[in-house]
This record gives sequence, C-alpha cells and structure tokens, in this order.
Amino acid sequence: MQFLENYSLRPHNSFGIDARARYFAAFTSVEQLAALAEFAFPGQKADPQLILGGGSNILLTKNIDGWVFHNLVKGIELELEDAESVIVRVGAGETWHNFVLYTIENNWAGIENLSLIPGSVGAAPMQNIGAYGVELKDSFHSLLAWHTRDKRLDLFTLRDCEFGYRESIFKKQAKGEYIIVQVNFRLNKKPVFHTSYGAIQQELEKMNVQELSIRAISDAVIRIRQSKLPDPKQIGNAGSFFKNPSVTVEQYESLKSDFPHLVAYNNPDGTMKLAAGWLIEQCGWKGYREGDAGCHQQQALVLVNYGNATGKEIYDLSQKILDSVKDKFGVELEREVNII
Ligand code: EPU
Repeated sequence: MQFLENYSLRPHNSFGIDARARYFAAFTSVEQLAALAEFAFPGQKADPQLILGGGSNILLTKNIDGWVFHNLVKGIELELEDAESVIVRVGAGETWHNFVLYTIENNWAGIENLSLIPGSVGAAPMQNIGAYGVELKDSFHSLLAWHTRDKRLDLFTLRDCEFGYRESIFKKQAKGEYIIVQVNFRLNKKPVFHTSYGAIQQELEKMNVQELSIRAISDAVIRIRQSKLPDPKQIGNAGSFFKNPSVTVEQYESLKSDFPHLVAYNNPDGTMKLAAGWLIEQCGWKGYREGDAGCHQQQALVLVNYGNATGKEIYDLSQKILDSVKDKFGVELEREVNII
C-alpha cells in the first residue's frame, strides 16, 4: 500500500491552503478503498479524518493529524438506454465539469446548467450542487457509498439522499459515515431547457444563438461563470462561501421597508430567499482584503485566497462578515463551505 507522510494538501484544495496531512493515500476502486481502510485501520472502523475529492468545497483551518483518503475512482459508463432517457454510471473521482462536457457530446440533457462547477462527481450529491435554476437532484438516479464502520457498499435512492438546498443526508445524519464511490444519473434524450434564470437568456442573446441547444446553454453558463466567479487556478476560492438565507414573509416585508433595494426570491414553501451577496455588499465587504484573505470584487458571496492566506484567516474574515450582516439586517448567514 502506497501512502505519503506529512504531505501538503495545497494542490488538493481549491482555496490553495497549505495544510498538511499526516498520512495521505489515494484509491481508484472500491477494492483499493477496502484494502486501504484495512491497512490504515486494521480490524476496526475506518476513520479517515478527511475524504478528498476535488477539494472545491472545503476550508482547511488546520493540519490533519491522521489519514486523508483521496478518491480517484474513475469511469463513465452507459448503464441503460430507452427512447427517452439514459442511465449513466459515473466514478466519484471523475471531474464534474468533464462529466458535464461528456453528456453534452452525447446529447444527454439535464446537467448543462451545472457547467463549470468545480469539484468531483462524488462531492456533487453531498451538497446537492445547483446553479442557474437547476440542481443535481433533478438528474440524480442513485448512488453507491461505502460504509466506513461496516466496510460494505450501500445503495442510496433519490429519496434516501434527502436532498435540500445545498443539503443532503451526507451533510447531516450520515455525516462522516460514508464514502461516495459512484453516482448514477438519469439524463434525457429530449432536452427540457431551463433558461428562465435571467442571466442565461441575456447571455444567449449576446451570443446571438439562433437555435437553442444544451451546448448553447452550457456555453452561456460558462461565459457567465467566467465573468463573475474567480478561477480557482488563479485565485483560491470555493465558490459561494455562504448559503442564501431564507426568511419568513413578515421578516422580508419588514426588511424591505427599511432596505427598499433588498434582493429576494420566492421559495416554493412560501418563505423568501435573500441574496446573501447583496447583504454582504451592503455591509461594505465586497472587494475587501486583509493580508491575502479577501471578499471577491465581483461577487461578494465568494471569499478568496490571494496567495498565502491561512484557513484560519479566511475563517476569521467569514466570521466578521457573518457578524456584520447579523448586526445590520438581523439575518444569520450560514456557511456553505465545509470547515475542516
Ligand atoms: N448580488 C449583489 N452583490 C454581489 C453578489 C450578488 O448585490 O456581490 C445580488 C445581485 O442582485 C444578484 C443576486 O445577488 O443578481 C444573485 O447573485 P448571483 O446571480 O451571482 O447568484 P447567487 O445567489 O449569489 C447562487 C449560487 C451560486 C450559483 C448562482 C447562479 C448559492 C449559495 N450560490 O449565487 O452557486 O452559481 O446562484 O445560479 O446558492 C456555489 O454554490 O458555490 C455557487 C457559486
């Protein structure tokens, strides 16, 4: 069994934080995972401190004094096909955007709006990734996850995963209990286009698209994301650092009368979702920088590492932002990124 000791995780987290792992090892199959778990935790529950996929939704605030398992299970396979749809099996270690591009090549519709989201396929269900009016759960079929205590594979259906807004069972009751190894998607041969999200329609017009297609939507999303969101290869970040908070209609009305420009959307359950980026910008944080930790200039919801910020520095900045939004608006922001 090959493993590395005192290994820098900098290349493995999109924030580019230089935290170290005491022990680090990769696995490319369930068999290798089982062997690694037995090697690292002989005769007992496998208890790695961290399972790394693309590392695009974590903030490392300390060194990891134990095992880090890196998920490199690859492969994209067509499992079932009928006149309407396909079911595709994908290894959790595949890069999410590469998989999206593969579906577009094959004309399988469903996840084109989720183009260019950083990270791995296995991390996508953890937080039910979403963008431009579409969420992972809309194209999700099932997944296979390895139970770390019992060292066996379990199947999770859509209902089992308890998906919500940037939520799943893997962030709640089952936190730390499973390693996702394969995700199965149901994609459509006949596309249903989702362009109602304002920016997409405008972008398609700018691109002068004559005939709508999943490729055109993917291209539009890529252009929007590239214009607003920093590329983690250039500036360390993990996308939106906070979730958009939901409030009651009464709270919304009262805020709206104090702050007429408040940006909000209707939730299906009757509550209102506030644009956290707007709240943060109003508190004066947009473009703020303290050492190498900062709040992005174009999208206040994104915290960035300009080079050598520590995870603690980014975390402390996030706390100041949280406190000031609470002070000004009485609204509690919640972090979307996993703090390690
Ligand atoms: N806004 C500001 N100032 C800012 C940022 C935003 O005023 O600095 C206001 C604007 O009015 C803007 C509105 O907020 O129209 C919404 O902003 P945006 O369209 O950028 O979307 P978001 O709500 O900030 C969410 C997701 C993103 C996803 C986009 C597009 C969350 C936490 N974030 O951001 O997801 O790409 O919508 O669908 O729900 C991610 O999760 O990492 C992520 C990037």
